[in-house]
Amino acid sequence: MANARLDLGSHTVELPLVTGTMGEKAIDITNLRKDSGFITLDSGYQNTGSCKSAITFVDGDKGILKYRGVNIEDLATNARFTEVAYFLVHGKFANQEERSEFSQQLTENSMLHEDMIKFFHSVPPTAHPMSILSTMVNAMSIFYPQYFVDENDDEVYKLMASRLISKIRTIAAFSYKRSIGEPLVYPRHDLPYCSNFLNMMFDSPVKPYEIDPETERLLNMILTLHADHEQNCSTSTVRLVGSSKVNLYSSVCAGICALWGPLHGGANQEVIEMLELIHREKLPVKSVIEKSKDKNSGFKLSGFGHRVYRNFDPRMKILKQEAQSFLKNRNMDDPLMNIALELEEAALKDEYFIERKLYPNVDFYSGILYREMGFPTEMFTVLFAMGRMPGWIAQWKEMHDSVPFKIGRPRQVYIGPAEAVYPGR
Ligand code: ACO
Repeated sequence: MANARLDLGSHTVELPLVTGTMGEKAIDITNLRKDSGFITLDSGYQNTGSCKSAITFVDGDKGILKYRGVNIEDLATNARFTEVAYFLVHGKFANQEERSEFSQQLTENSMLHEDMIKFFHSVPPTAHPMSILSTMVNAMSIFYPQYFVDENDDEVYKLMASRLISKIRTIAAFSYKRSIGEPLVYPRHDLPYCSNFLNMMFDSPVKPYEIDPETERLLNMILTLHADHEQNCSTSTVRLVGSSKVNLYSSVCAGICALWGPLHGGANQEVIEMLELIHREKLPVKSVIEKSKDKNSGFKLSGFGHRVYRNFDPRMKILKQEAQSFLKNRNMDDPLMNIALELEEAALKDEYFIERKLYPNVDFYSGILYREMGFPTEMFTVLFAMGRMPGWIAQWKEMHDSVPFKIGRPRQVYIGPAEAVYPGR
C-alpha cells in the first residue's frame, strides 16, 4: 500500500499506512520524530493506536464488539465465562483435555494463602471493596513470588492466569463478607466458577444459600460481556505498567485501580447512586438532563457517553433486555428501572445528546441487573474487575510477546518556562 505524505512546509515525510483485518486504517508515525523532528500531540489518546492487537474488535459506529472474531451476542448467550476466559487468555477455545486442566487449575487455586486472609481482618469494614481488591491482587506478588521470575514460560503463564482468574473471585467475595462483618465462606471444590462465587458471597451461618440457576446464568453472561474491551483506560494501564516488565499481578492491580474511577468502571456504582438520588429527592428527569448539559454544574449523566461507541453499546442492549426480563418474569416493579428508562428516552430525544452521539453505555443498566441479582452497590465495580481479568491478562501477554517489545513511554510538548533560577534559601 502507498505511504501517506505529510507536508511539513520545508519538506515532506513519507509515513507507512497500516490496515487492520476489519479495514481499520492507521498511519504509522513511529519514525516521524527521527525523520522530521516532529512528534504528534493527542491528549487523552483520542486518536492514537498504541498497539496492534488480535484480541478484541470494536466498531463504535456500528455498535459491533467481537472477541477474537466471535460476536459478543453469541458468546454472551451461549458460552460460559470460563470458556470465554480461556479463549481470551490462550487464543483458542479449549478442547476437552484443556478444559479439564483449566477447570482443575481454577479449583486448585481458589483458596487464598492463610496469611493473606489475615489481611482481611486488619482492613476496616468501611473500606471500599475495590481498594481491598487492588491491595490483595498486588499482594499476590508477595505470596506467590516464584511465579513471576519466568513468566515467559507457557506453563508458568497458564498457572498465573488461572491463579488470578480464580483468586480474584475469592478476594472479591471475602472483601464483601468483611464489609458486612460476616465470617468468610471458603471456596468449594464441587462448584463451578460462578456458583462458587455466589455461594461465597451469599451463604451465611444464619441463612444457607441455595444456588439459583438463573442468577448463575446471568453472572456468566455479565462477566462475559465485561471480559475485554480493547485499549480502554484500565487495559491501557495494564499494558503501560506491564511494559516496564513488572510482574503480571502488579500490572493487573494497576488496571483495577484505573477501572475504579467514575469515568470508567466505577460508573456502574455512580449510575445507581444517581438513580437513587433522583428517586429519593423526586427530581424531575428533565431537570437532571438539563443539569448534565450545563458545563458549570460539574455533573454528567452517569452511564452515558463513550469514547468509541457513537451509535449504541451492544453490551448495554443485552443488559437492558435481561434487566427488564428479570423484573417481568418475577412480576416485579423497580422504580430505579423506571427512572433509567425515562432518562434514556429523554436523553435520546434531546438535541445535546443527539448532536454529541451520547448513548447509554455498558454501565447504565448493569447496576440495575446486579441489584436485581442481590449484589450490593459497592460490589458492582468489583464484578466488572472480575469479568475484565481475562482480558487484562490476554492483553498483557500479547504485549509481552510483541516484536519488537518496547517500554511504553509517551512524549510531551513542554510549555513551562524556558529558564528559571533557584531563589536560594
Ligand atoms: N453527560 C453529559 N454530557 C456528556 C456526557 C454525559 N454523560 N458524556 C459526554 N458528554 C459531553 C461532553 O461534555 C462533551 O461536550 P462538549 O463537546 O460540549 O465539550 C461531549 O459530550 C463529548 O464528550 P467527551 O467528554 O469529549 O467524551 P470522551 O470520549 O472524552 O469521554 C466518557 C467519554 C468519559 C465516557 C464520558 O462520556 C463520560 O464522562 N461519561 C459519563 C461516565 C461514564 O458513564 N463512564 C463509563 C464509560 S463506559 C466504561 O468505561 C466501561
